[in-house]
Amino acid sequence: MESNMKPKLEVKNITKTFFSDKGAFQAVEDVSFQIREGEFLVLLGPGRCGKSVLLNIISGLLEQTSGAVYFNGQEIHGVNPEISMVFQKTAVMPFKTVQQNVELGLKFAGMDKKKRAEISEHYINLVGLKGFEKSYPPQLSGGMKQRVGIARAYATNPEVLIMDEPFGQLDAQTRYSMQNEILRISAEEKKTVLFVTNNIEEACSLGDRIVLLSACPARVKEIYDLNYLPKPRDIVSKEFLDIRQKISDNTDLAL
Ligand SMILES: Nc1ncnc2c1ncn2[C@@H]1O[C@H](COP(=O)(O)OP(=O)(O)O)[C@@H](O)[C@H]1O
Ligand SMILES: [Mg+2]
Repeated sequence: MESNMKPKLEVKNITKTFFSDKGAFQAVEDVSFQIREGEFLVLLGPGRCGKSVLLNIISGLLEQTSGAVYFNGQEIHGVNPEISMVFQKTAVMPFKTVQQNVELGLKFAGMDKKKRAEISEHYINLVGLKGFEKSYPPQLSGGMKQRVGIARAYATNPEVLIMDEPFGQLDAQTRYSMQNEILRISAEEKKTVLFVTNNIEEACSLGDRIVLLSACPARVKEIYDLNYLPKPRDIVSKEFLDIRQKISDNTDLAL
């Protein structure tokens, strides 16, 4: 196995069942896949299929019923600081400026002010928010708030970035431009990314590989390798439309 092919993260036979007064509810069933170092892996599945439950297990916020998660070959338990999350509704703090928001994790880690400012400047520029350092989130559009969340996640320099439907709340036009932005950003700052979406076109535009999940409980239906399609991809090319159709034909629910 080539060194750049070694798994950074491995999800092995993960199952999650919630128990309540009403009985047992299975959200994830025997899910296994690997994320290679430097890979942009997309998890594609219908709404409420168990994607966020799975991500919360991978990031250590939730405990699995069975199975294991390995990071650099070691089984992990609990929250891993080397994994950063970007959420659908970015948890940007409205009373802190863009710069303060981006520096939050760095401040928490005890980094001094000068170093924090250098790093936040770099990532604010990277996500295209130069000039908005002193703005407050309520003054920003939805797309710009997501840029703040992305800059904040990158700024802590985690080994793995997890993005949970980060563009799900954006209008179609903004979503499309943010997809292009994330392609540009991930080409500039090579990272291992696990990106979750319920949108097939988004998955096909961004994914080096796509893990297609079933309807709830989430099971792996198929793993598609799209490395034969160089990025940025021409979304009206025959190759693109072919793979998009192939995946669409294999989905449980309309995506
Ligand atoms: N803490 C919980 N307790 C019980 N059920 C939950 C819990 N978290 C999520 N679920 C259920 O698991 C299913 C999958 O949820 P989720 O992973 O959030 O879906 P999505 O794929 O849209 O991210 C849903 O039916 C949801 O209600
Ligand atoms: Mg979700």
